[in-house]
Amino acid sequence: MNLTLKIWRQKGPQVKGKMVEYKVNDISEHMSFLEMMDVLNEQLVNSGDEPVAFDHDCREGICGMCSLYINGEANGPDKKITVCQLHMRMFNDGDTIYIEPWRAKAFPVIKDLVVDRTSFDRIQQAGGFISVNTSGNTQDANALPISKHAADEAMDAATCIGCGACVATCKNSSAMLFVGAKVSQYALLPQGQVEAADRVINMVHQMDLEGFGNCTNTGACEIECPKGITLVNIARMNREYLKASLKG
Ligand code: SF4
Ligand code: FES
Repeated sequence: MNLTLKIWRQKGPQVKGKMVEYKVNDISEHMSFLEMMDVLNEQLVNSGDEPVAFDHDCREGICGMCSLYINGEANGPDKKITVCQLHMRMFNDGDTIYIEPWRAKAFPVIKDLVVDRTSFDRIQQAGGFISVNTSGNTQDANALPISKHAADEAMDAATCIGCGACVATCKNSSAMLFVGAKVSQYALLPQGQVEAADRVINMVHQMDLEGFGNCTNTGACEIECPKGITLVNIARMNREYLKASLKG
């Protein structure tokens, strides 16, 4: 198929960006979206132009790096997938495709389609961990009774890959689905109880410091999340926060 691409180009964080039009031809419907971007970049390099900068790593839906806003939708038209799992069969010959970076104050553009998501790292550093006594008396994790329901819910929350689609798609640029998932994966397990109160207070505090907006329950984050993280995690985080605040 032959396509017209309108891509956000921006030389650096302080430089004004703009949409630039490109044409790509003979794109197979079996290619992934990133392979199509590779074809474009090869074309640009061969003609002496600068290739489009975009993030990617695993290309199998695990790392959360490939973050693109495609035709006004985080990760494009398919559901519950990352951009590396998006295939060109979702598009038609002759289509014009708009490709932009995540847009959020807390995710500033570094170059073209690459944004700085270290704000997520700082939220994780604020509380996304547990302390384990490794002095030789560590309790075997298998000896801790955990209900199947709690284990399943914790595992579901832990599938968040920190991609930031929830933020990019939220009209408030809220990070509450991400933080809700990170708080939940520990709040549901006995290993997470020791630091539970500090964790939720510190992570929410860091989230606010980074400039993410608040949640107004529109649910767009849940719809665009590639890993199916649900709003239940935001509700759980709010309950954990209230509990921690009352404790003082
Ligand atoms: S909650 Fe979903 S959309 Fe948000 S960072 Fe995690 S995986 Fe990505
Ligand atoms: S490149 Fe890793 S999730 Fe897409």
